[in-house]
Amino acid sequence: MAAIEPLIRGFSSAVSPLTEDLLAADTRDVGAGLRARGNYMPQPKKIPLLRYHSAEYAALEKERLWKKVWQFACREEDIPNVGDRAPYTVGDLSYVIVRTAPREFRAFYNTCLHRGTRLCDGLGSGPSLRCPFHAWEWNLDGTLKNIPSRWDFPKVASADYRLPEVKVGTWGGFIFINPDPGAAPLESHLGVLPEFFKACPAEDRFTAFHIRKRVRANWKVTLEAFLEAYHVVETHSDSLSFTGDASTQYDIWEEGAAHISRLITPLGIPSPHLGDHASVAAAADRAFEVFAMAMPGVPVPRYDSASPLSPRAQVAEWRRQMMGAGLARDFGSWSDAAVLDSVQYFMFPNFCPWYGEGLPLVYQFLPWGNDPNESVMSVRLTAPLPGGGAPRPPSAAIAELDFDEPFSSKPEIGLLALIFDQDMSNLPRIQSGLRGASPAHPATTLGRYQEQRIQHFHEVLEKTLGE
Ligand code: FES
Ligand SMILES: [Fe+2]
Repeated sequence: MAAIEPLIRGFSSAVSPLTEDLLAADTRDVGAGLRARGNYMPQPKKIPLLRYHSAEYAALEKERLWKKVWQFACREEDIPNVGDRAPYTVGDLSYVIVRTAPREFRAFYNTCLHRGTRLCDGLGSGPSLRCPFHAWEWNLDGTLKNIPSRWDFPKVASADYRLPEVKVGTWGGFIFINPDPGAAPLESHLGVLPEFFKACPAEDRFTAFHIRKRVRANWKVTLEAFLEAYHVVETHSDSLSFTGDASTQYDIWEEGAAHISRLITPLGIPSPHLGDHASVAAAADRAFEVFAMAMPGVPVPRYDSASPLSPRAQVAEWRRQMMGAGLARDFGSWSDAAVLDSVQYFMFPNFCPWYGEGLPLVYQFLPWGNDPNESVMSVRLTAPLPGGGAPRPPSAAIAELDFDEPFSSKPEIGLLALIFDQDMSNLPRIQSGLRGASPAHPATTLGRYQEQRIQHFHEVLEKTLGE
């Protein structure tokens, strides 16, 4: 039996505790989900660089991954009314998700059965699915409705020309599909997510902004750039004054078919990299400023040295009050962690829902077209629904950003635009660097603790591809 190597689980300083110590010192009960620790640690293994740019590997992924797994497609609020539809496109595979009844969704291959035209290119609506080429038409349930010049297709039996369907599952307002007719239900893949999100239900949120960014990097390169906080010290060094990057906690849950991981990066404390004498007051002041950016016109508080609350707890208290007033809801019982920290889950292979109000984002990562060197990342902010009987706000329109368009062309997302552009600046550079690597070092070298979620992702990927 292999010896268990000692593992250092993050790095703290005198003023920047590890996440688990912050959670224990929270001014509220953080709840069972945030207290829970993972049950799995992947084996350290180098990842071949070829995996990120080989057309053969991408073809294998298409056949054994994308045609076989549960994957995050869209949100229910993207298609709010019966007859609404949204395309979900993975490389050159494409499906159309349709709301077929108030609480029913179906997904079809996005291909006309006449001569193959793609049926749905963007969000749309209507009582049927109608091909733009010769107007073959299907009912929302996939049954054939009409063929112009029906007399010219004597061999076409309507029963044989239903639109082929793929499996659909929903959780928390998210819609997933699986093209494998033999797949187990979605529920067996969700693992800890339904339990852990109970206190902050994902279905009680709406898409406040939605950006789809095309990236000149393999979809796994793009995904992996968001699975660790190790890069903060260099890539986001201007965030160190208020971000506990190195004290981030990482957890993995392996439960049968469910492959889930999580990171919790605390906000409102200085980075442990800044040393034992870093200013906790400055960390709170910067956190006040950063959170206030999303609320133009709101006066920015300062750390109060006379307060009995810690600087971080002061920011949390202000967040509870501001959110409560803005949304007509009571956040009084919410933990400091739930209103401040970056709590990001990952469900294999393409889905990152964030928990709480620190940074309520949702990421989706997909190959783009047929080139393994390109991908598309979707970023949503899912804001909590307002209370007081207010109607559900409409979902934001999708803003498409092409390869060379920066996030900063969307100034409405504030500081996030700068942070995403910092991440994006690395990605094409990684892709070109790994393609030209020395044969003496044809693989990545991952940090044992901070990059374990990437390691875990590749373990599951290898298993899925049967490697
Ligand atoms: S290809 Fe669709 S109707 Fe002809
Ligand atoms: Fe980043």
